[in-house]
Amino acid sequence: MLPTTALLLGLTGTVLGFHVCQLIADEVSFVTDVYYPGSSSYVADNEHYATSSSQVSKCSVEPGSAEDVGIILGILGKTKTPFGIKGGGHSANLGFSSTTGVQIAMARFNEVTYESATQTAVIGAGNIWDDVYEILNAQGVNVVGVRESGVGVAGLILGGGYSYLSNQYGLALDNVVAYELVAPNTTVVTVTEESDPDLFFSLKGGFNNYGIVTRFTLKAYPQGAVWGGAASYNASYISAFNAASVKFCSEVADPKAAMIMAYVYVSGQELLSTLMFYDGPTPPDGIFDDFLAIPAFTQDVATRSFFDLINSTSHGAAGHRIVINHIPTLEYSESFIEGIADELNFWGPTLSTHGALSVTYAVEPFLPSLLTHAPAGSSAYPSSRDHVVFPTAVVLQWVSESEDDVFHDAARQTAEKLGVEGESIYPDYAIYDTPVVDMFGEEGVKRMEATRKRVDPYGVMLLTGGFKV
Ligand SMILES: Cc1cc2nc3c(=O)[nH]c(=O)nc-3n(C[C@H](O)[C@H](O)[C@H](O)COP(=O)(O)OP(=O)(O)OC[C@H]3O[C@@H](n4cnc5c(N)ncnc54)[C@H](O)[C@@H]3O)c2cc1C
Ligand SMILES: *[C@@H]1O[C@H](CO)[C@@H](O)[C@H](O)[C@H]1NC(C)=O
Ligand SMILES: *[C@@H]1O[C@H](CO)[C@@H](O)[C@H](O)[C@H]1NC(C)=O
Ligand SMILES: *[C@@H]1O[C@H](CO)[C@@H](O)[C@H](O)[C@H]1NC(C)=O
Repeated sequence: MLPTTALLLGLTGTVLGFHVCQLIADEVSFVTDVYYPGSSSYVADNEHYATSSSQVSKCSVEPGSAEDVGIILGILGKTKTPFGIKGGGHSANLGFSSTTGVQIAMARFNEVTYESATQTAVIGAGNIWDDVYEILNAQGVNVVGVRESGVGVAGLILGGGYSYLSNQYGLALDNVVAYELVAPNTTVVTVTEESDPDLFFSLKGGFNNYGIVTRFTLKAYPQGAVWGGAASYNASYISAFNAASVKFCSEVADPKAAMIMAYVYVSGQELLSTLMFYDGPTPPDGIFDDFLAIPAFTQDVATRSFFDLINSTSHGAAGHRIVINHIPTLEYSESFIEGIADELNFWGPTLSTHGALSVTYAVEPFLPSLLTHAPAGSSAYPSSRDHVVFPTAVVLQWVSESEDDVFHDAARQTAEKLGVEGESIYPDYAIYDTPVVDMFGEEGVKRMEATRKRVDPYGVMLLTGGFKV
């Protein structure tokens, strides 16, 4: 492209921004609103958990119906306007749910309806999990979703979804019965295994490549009181903590038990923490005893509702820069756990000199049967169901944008050092430039590409950011 053409496109793009916002406002129904800089709704619509994934859009739109989402998508496609689609805004990657064009915030899709006849729940794509759990818990049921407060349902389900309930019922995406999707041709369609197997497959990992999801129908399960919560320990107990971690990961076979063990460097110190979960009012002896025996300096573990457990982890928006990367892991052996401790010892002090607020490694064990709750080939992610790849995560938080490259490089280097090459990368934890073939495999990408060409022949969804197939 000639420089002058690029310049012209850039200019018209800027001018078009406001014009497109006005076009949208003129065409949509009264259930939808367009907001401009200066309004509090505009601020909320553009806000993200991490500042590293927040951008300044021309305007924001809060669609109130699937039909209006179709009208909006039609205008954005015709005018070739870049846009962002935001669920809970928890992606740490720039441009994945943010934009300098038109920001679509899905917040008005906040339906949560349990249907006892089918034992399913219809969940609007603008919900955060806290609200879903609160409403369903009141009816004695639950769905497979997030383990911490504040996260959106849409991104978590569309990218995978590791849950406290996954050992019992699979990933969040394994539990989707139907998607209500506004396709790139602006039509509202219900996508099921029967209606369109390739699109159903591709939506299970494919995020925003196939249109805008407005509702998920999920399998629902009876849910009683649970036991669990958070605890943190002084680093002086690291050998007991490591031993307890290795033992839990290798020995506990009860599908109702789940944990996250975290190795953290913060304020010039190492600390150890856990999230413990048991799907019942009291865990059987032996499962968490080794952790409970370590003197904790904070501990909030109790018998409580599932909603209360999740809400107890709430801490608001992070408010600074974050990068997350997946460390593909096949075994939580003693040497792997010690390797994490070594990496923390290196990166903690190293990144502190660049303004790190925290360096965290999260160990996330699951049972070998995790992926047997759905058939092989039923989802784009993971690329294989032969064996489990644990979603070990590295999470780096810092202050200054000028240090972004240092932290992104560190997240790549530590994942390469600790991770197993060639294993399926988890889309919801992957750094922004991860190749899609690393997440979905060659076969998966082929099927997804063919589906995208059929469903989105004009590339409307290429106007929004994220992992593109
Ligand atoms: C504190 C914290 C805790 C977490 N805990 C877990 C956990 O327990 N288990 C786990 O598996 N993951 C976890 N994650 C990762 C989480 O799954 C991802 O960050 C997820 O993408 C967040 O979803 P969201 O809707 O909030 O994100 P957003 O940033 O709003 O969206 C993420 C992606 O989905 C796309 N998208 C959003 N809505 C739609 C839609 N309606 N239609 C089409 N595309 C859409 C966006 O365009 C974007 O590309 C956690 C992350 C954080 C920060
Ligand atoms: C952690 O352990 C060290 C060594 O035993 C001790 O000096 C320190 O006070 C402890 N810190 C906390 C917060 O308990
Ligand atoms: C959820 O947690 C927040 C923060 O700890 C608290 O203020 C709020 O009351 C809790 N909500 C409910 C419904 O318990
Ligand atoms: C629009 O796309 C959807 C999804 O691919 C398809 O089912 C539907 O038939 C298309 N409608 C029109 C009018 O082309």
